[in-house]
Amino acid sequence: MNLLSLLQEKLTAALTGLVPHPETYGALVRPTQDERHGDYQANAAMPLAKVLGQKPLDVARRIVERLALDDVVEPPAIAGPGFINFRFRSDWLARQLQAAAADDRLGVSSTARPRTVVIDFSSPNVAKPMHVGHLRSTIIGDSLTRLLRFLGHRVITDNHLGDWGTQFGMLLYGYKHYRNEEALRTDPVREMARLYVKVRQEIAAGEDEAEEAANPVAEACRQETAKLHAGDEENVRLWRLFMPWCLADIERIYRRLDVRFDHTLGESFYHPMLADVVQSLLDRGIAQKSEGAVVVWFGANEPPALIRKKDGAFTYMTTDLATIRYRVETWKPDAILYVVDFRQSLHFKNLFDTARRWGYDQVELVHVSFGSVLGPDRRPIKTREGGAIELEQLLDEAVARAEQQYERTREERLARGEEVPELGADERRQVAETVGLGAVKYADLSQNRESDYVFNWDKMLAMDGNTATYMQYAYVRNRGIFRKSGAAVEPFRTEPPEPTLTHPAERALALQLLRFSETLQAAAIEYRPHLICGYLWELAKSYSVFFQNCPVLRAETSVLTRSRLLLCDLTARTIQRGLDLLGIRTVERM
Ligand code: ARG
Repeated sequence: MNLLSLLQEKLTAALTGLVPHPETYGALVRPTQDERHGDYQANAAMPLAKVLGQKPLDVARRIVERLALDDVVEPPAIAGPGFINFRFRSDWLARQLQAAAADDRLGVSSTARPRTVVIDFSSPNVAKPMHVGHLRSTIIGDSLTRLLRFLGHRVITDNHLGDWGTQFGMLLYGYKHYRNEEALRTDPVREMARLYVKVRQEIAAGEDEAEEAANPVAEACRQETAKLHAGDEENVRLWRLFMPWCLADIERIYRRLDVRFDHTLGESFYHPMLADVVQSLLDRGIAQKSEGAVVVWFGANEPPALIRKKDGAFTYMTTDLATIRYRVETWKPDAILYVVDFRQSLHFKNLFDTARRWGYDQVELVHVSFGSVLGPDRRPIKTREGGAIELEQLLDEAVARAEQQYERTREERLARGEEVPELGADERRQVAETVGLGAVKYADLSQNRESDYVFNWDKMLAMDGNTATYMQYAYVRNRGIFRKSGAAVEPFRTEPPEPTLTHPAERALALQLLRFSETLQAAAIEYRPHLICGYLWELAKSYSVFFQNCPVLRAETSVLTRSRLLLCDLTARTIQRGLDLLGIRTVERM
């Protein structure tokens, strides 16, 4: 049940016949900030007053007269200049909650209009180990995948690996000059990383850094790349040798992060199609030859995009154009999302513009852009030596810190009289992994993706506040109630009772639980997982007020106990589902 859409539909119906474009005004419903003004508020009367040439208050009255409230909402109150305040009937809320409890989807319906959406995310350049810069794309993309799938869309995930660029020229050069056979046998992944770093240092140490062309190592690497692209037998053979090593490295991280891809079609996959892309763009007059290169122009004052360089090399842009063609022809998507950081905004603007001119104007192309992860100095996060922080080390540290914290807080929890289970070594490791990785993911996803955020271990592992740790403990405590009561959860899902919503805290919790649906809807429309985090945080707060005010196991009657256990179970399930949509796991006890 989507409460917000229900009110919007009712308002739209009331406006139909009264004003042109009723749905535009019908959409003007928002949750209230203050519960004294009801649950939701419509401010349609103010803009409509201008359109109709009447006083807002009169317009509001006419709307209210025409509203079909059924048994859903109390008679609305008109407040201030013409706000219409809606308050759901508690008995109706109770029935919706009962229905949600009996539903695996917690009352969230599948979309009536499923779309096919390709999500391009993570997409690292693979000659080097994954670093912290790949974190955001990977977890935002994964969360959007989970969310859109849950809402009933057909999602195709594609990891557009950088597996063909100049970094392979560097690996080829490094391999030919500096390889350590022994290291290649024992740990080829590390050896690849070492060779990459070594060659980079060589290039940086060259005579004239600014004038890269004059740098002989850089030039040699470029030639290795060019030979690879031209199909040189040895370089292609070596590339085939390197790729599985590079992939093993990133796959380990994906497994750990619980991220999967339907397809991993890297840049190399498109190489054979690039000449044809350039020809097609030239034939249609979209691209022009310019001083031996091929470019696409945008505006008079804007720099053109290169799609073939003077030396014949194709570019990132050419590959992305081929990728759009391939995806549209193969999967016929309604939309393609690119979860890539904001620094590539111009690239995507130019790419989408070119693709539309090229005829791909039916597919919605979206750059789901995000900001940087900052260090304590508020600059993009780096190691102390100034290098990129490897993702694997970051995840290891998260888990180690989660483990330490678990030990520390155990004592405090015992002192507070909390029930703390005795966990074996395996279960402890499991808890640390779940809490540690959850903290990293949630800290990222709870930020509006377009903002930068400061990476802060203490904040992300805090037991209090809008953190995964807090949600995970709320979940576990909730499960503990069932263990303690001896009540089985199953009946609350197969034959849930109709809950009693007499206490304001019960009603507030019920309302928040029923807002899950509209939250997911909004998060999916805007591609903003942080709306789910904000929702979970509000839910956890409503739950805690409820828990402080409404005894569950010691309620006055057994009927009331059952009603409150239902609220508990539904809260736990909603937290678990919400976290799952963020790619975050829960444990049953800790
Ligand atoms: N490999 C690129 C990078 O690391 C990101 C690719 C994003 N996807 C795309 N289709 N361009 O910057």
